[in-house]
Amino acid sequence: WLWPAGALVLGYLLGSIPFGLILTRLSGGGDIRQQGSGNIGATNVLRTGRKGVALATLLLDGGKGALAYFLGEQIGPGLGMHAAAGAFFGHLYPVWLGFKGGKGVATMLGISLAMLWPTGLAFALVWVAVFALFRWSSLAGMFAASAVPVTAAILGRFDVTLLTLAFALVLIWKHRENIDRLLSGEEPHFGRSAA
Ligand code: G3P
Repeated sequence: WLWPAGALVLGYLLGSIPFGLILTRLSGGGDIRQQGSGNIGATNVLRTGRKGVALATLLLDGGKGALAYFLGEQIGPGLGMHAAAGAFFGHLYPVWLGFKGGKGVATMLGISLAMLWPTGLAFALVWVAVFALFRWSSLAGMFAASAVPVTAAILGRFDVTLLTLAFALVLIWKHRENIDRLLSGEEPHFGRSAA
């Protein structure tokens, strides 16, 4: 049990690094939690007008998920999934921020690409398609996340299906305020009105 637990903790420590918060602050943008939706993810960083910082947040939040998976596999075969689970929950519930973290979209993309790349590809394609149609990042993220367990099931990887189904359900739960806004017509579109 020691190695799986170690992979989980290592993943959690990596995943709990709040890149959006750190990079926004370092670039003079203040506390991202006090701006826009209050989320620490790339979407909300983009609302501050800092495109480069938003891109870096996307890459680093995704990268830490992928790195956790690869490091876990170094600890032992099969332990990448433990580390990935740790990273995902570390991003969503970081101890350093009173367990108030991000919503998991970028981190799930990175994990999916590393763990079973066609699921990451499905994630990216669905995200782009839904975003192009509706221009809501939150809706695109929820649909993209849902595509991962479906793709894993089609590929016959039931371990990945179960893990990413859990990820998708928690990711959707984390978007409950977005869902309320989507239903009441208050979720801001990107590129149409003020994002
Ligand atoms: O990446 C998170 C995204 O799906 C929603 O972010 O800031 O619009 O709540 P936000």
